Amino acid sequence: MPALTTLSPASLLPVAIDRGEGATLFDTDGNAYADLYGGHAVALLGQGHPRWVAALSDQARTLSFVSTVAPVPLRDRAAQALCDFTEMHTAFLVNSGAEANEAALKIARKAMGRDVIVAFEAGFHGRTMACLGVTAAGSYRSQHDPVHGTTRFVPYGDADALAAALDEDVAAVLLEPIQGIAGVIEPPAGFLTACRRLCDEVGALLIVDEIQTGIGRCGRAMQWHAERACAPDVCTVGKSLGSGFPVAAMLCTEAVAATASPGEHGSTFGGGPLACAVVLAVLETIADEDLLTRGRALEAIARERGAAIDSVGTVRGAGCLLGVVLDRPARPVAQALVRAGFLTGTAADPHCLRLCPPAIMPPATLHAFFDALAATTTTGVRT
Ligand SMILES: Cc1ncc(COP(=O)(O)O)c(C=O)c1O
Repeated sequence: MPALTTLSPASLLPVAIDRGEGATLFDTDGNAYADLYGGHAVALLGQGHPRWVAALSDQARTLSFVSTVAPVPLRDRAAQALCDFTEMHTAFLVNSGAEANEAALKIARKAMGRDVIVAFEAGFHGRTMACLGVTAAGSYRSQHDPVHGTTRFVPYGDADALAAALDEDVAAVLLEPIQGIAGVIEPPAGFLTACRRLCDEVGALLIVDEIQTGIGRCGRAMQWHAERACAPDVCTVGKSLGSGFPVAAMLCTEAVAATASPGEHGSTFGGGPLACAVVLAVLETIADEDLLTRGRALEAIARERGAAIDSVGTVRGAGCLLGVVLDRPARPVAQALVRAGFLTGTAADPHCLRLCPPAIMPPATLHAFFDALAATTTTGVRT
């Protein structure tokens, strides 16, 4: 399949994955790998979680698809559960993170009658044309110049720069509460709240992109809950929401939702029964299996173990989205770790090893990973 590998870095992990069980993946030769990559921060429940499997298969037998043309009580239940979980008012279900951000940008621009978006340097918001317009990160954008929309980019975490970029042409400020692809970059404490205040001063909306950070990934329901005073007008979720099933959502306040007209935006597959059944199963499993606490426990282990390894400068991030910052390039370390049976990710920061383990990962597996990291990096070149 040359076309597929040309378009996406599918072969970054030099192993062909055949099956998975919990937090373990197996290659075609039957070798086991601890999955610290989590399918790019997707598989919050791991592989083949019994509740996820049961929800999907039961729903497939009951009602596999009907579009939004007909009311479906299951869709209402899933949307309500998602609003309760995220502490937002209205949910619009779609199929991918980029689609959720498209919906967010459309609703914000229309609600405000303005068209400028302020976004952050090194940020990533998806690969569709509108999302590329607000994405600063690397070559995702530059290869497709000129991209759509008018976006002002400011340094992440710099409230003064944000203030200088805001005026009455700005429809919304769009941010990740932790920049994932950039290298798991946390903003300074109070930054999200400052963004909220600065938006209010010019009457702009605040959109928080929680596609990577949300739905329990960071050890809390949503990462913006770390600073509740920032309460966004719009936020977007995906990845962990389906834990492997393609589903995402744009969530907004009652006031923003009231600006949308029926039929103005839609999606054939969005909010289909299978997706809704999975959303309910994922949210219930996070609560029933105490996955927020378990995610925070994994973070604590990572911070403690990372601090004791010479090659590790710092461990940053939250819950099950962690950046282990090394004193050397991360990519060769990630490759050596594959040979030792551990799959990890990298990021735009070349020294950052990105970990997105399932929240169900046994603590012993994370300890074994840090043993392997210490062994892998006792030798080799530091830069
Ligand atoms: C913060 C953020 N926003 C948006 C997206 C795009 O999501 P998707 O690939 O599901 O379109 C991603 C994907 O990595 C992401 O990390």
